[in-house]
Amino acid sequence: MILVTGGAGFIGANFVLDWLANHDESVINLDKLTYAGNLQTLASVADDPRHIFVRGDIGDSALVDRLLAEHRPRAVLNFAAESHVDRSIHGPEDFVQTNVLGTFRLLESVRGYWSKLPEADKSAFRFLHVSTDEVYGTLSASDPAFTETNRYEPNSPYSASKAASDHLVRAWHHTYGLPVLTTNCSNNYGPYHFPEKLIPLMIVNALAGKPLPVYGDGMQVRDWLYVRDHCSAIRRVLEAGTLGETYNVGGWNEKPNIEIVKTVCALLDELQPRADGKPYAEQISHVTDRPGHDRRYAIDARKLERELGWKPAETFDTGIRKTVQWYLANQEWVANVQSGGYRDWVARQYGDRAGAGA
Ligand code: NAD
Ligand code: DAU
Repeated sequence: MILVTGGAGFIGANFVLDWLANHDESVINLDKLTYAGNLQTLASVADDPRHIFVRGDIGDSALVDRLLAEHRPRAVLNFAAESHVDRSIHGPEDFVQTNVLGTFRLLESVRGYWSKLPEADKSAFRFLHVSTDEVYGTLSASDPAFTETNRYEPNSPYSASKAASDHLVRAWHHTYGLPVLTTNCSNNYGPYHFPEKLIPLMIVNALAGKPLPVYGDGMQVRDWLYVRDHCSAIRRVLEAGTLGETYNVGGWNEKPNIEIVKTVCALLDELQPRADGKPYAEQISHVTDRPGHDRRYAIDARKLERELGWKPAETFDTGIRKTVQWYLANQEWVANVQSGGYRDWVARQYGDRAGAGA
């Protein structure tokens, strides 16, 4: 049994689906179902007895203590977070609440549980914290990619809150001996990505005939990894990572935003051309830049490759094509997310256990 937090969000849900497809081991999925949590993503495992969904907050110590005592997981994987940089700029408090205080409370609950485990279970136990490359700050065009030894220089309220959570995880290892692992991953993309983030927003807006808002000059660089490759990296780190270590996760796919947007437009031109025959790129609109916008991220994932033998399965070309195809084939999922209709679905499926609305 493993406990996953935030398993109704983009990466957490992909992880849970992959896990249940590849393992017999059960998953307790603790998720608060904020605007970003969507149980419809997990519809295919709603009746799977190996998937136990619990709506709740990682900062609710009484609930987490009870879940740990009842289910006795061998590992806790912490995906739960507020994840969107723009939202953190306009309302940082939820980010401090969940990413900092929530992680602290979760660590304390886990420490209480772990410290009382029998010796064999205690040494086999793992707390895996899922984090981001944004903690390292920004790179210039000539800087080498981020390694695990780069200084933490977070620039946004989001990345500062994630950096704080990474430091807490590190401290709980050094001070209390909690067996922790941390992963710092680059930008993910793929199925079930909430359409506030760049790639799904561009697909959804393009199909709706809306402008495609590119911040500033669009020459900011992000390093893209297909979400299922992030999930396989996490599984590998959980299995074989060295306690207390951090692992950068990335697929060597640095691209300027404008190139990403043009690639999405070209794929849509091919797969679902506009009715008027014009290119989707006509909808690109340069808008005011994000305040404090980091110019470039790039991940050096050689430690993970060298020490644990992990490699991504997708190239950017194969991953982005799959992603655009997925959005074209799953427009009902998108429509439900946009209308908020997935909340009604959650209430119907899960009743009081999940509730409707966040
Ligand atoms: P997401 O916003 O799609 O999902 C977050 C999930 O956490 C949601 O289901 C939400 O309901 C849940 N949640 C939020 N607050 C909670 C709380 N207090 N208690 C319990 N559940 C709560 O985020 P994501 O993109 O899936 O990111 C998952 C993790 O991966 C985050 O920790 C994020 O920092 C990290 N990460 C994301 C990316 C990326 O590109 N998306 C890259 C690297 C790391
Ligand atoms: O690097 C990992 C991080 O990637 C994760 O830790 C975050 O949780 C995740 O949200 C993501 O952060 P970004 O800010 O890089 O992702 P976002 O999709 O919001 O933006 C990607 C780039 O595109 C960024 O440079 C801002 C730009 N952008 C974004 C949006 C939403 C636009 O130009 N227009 C847009 O409308």
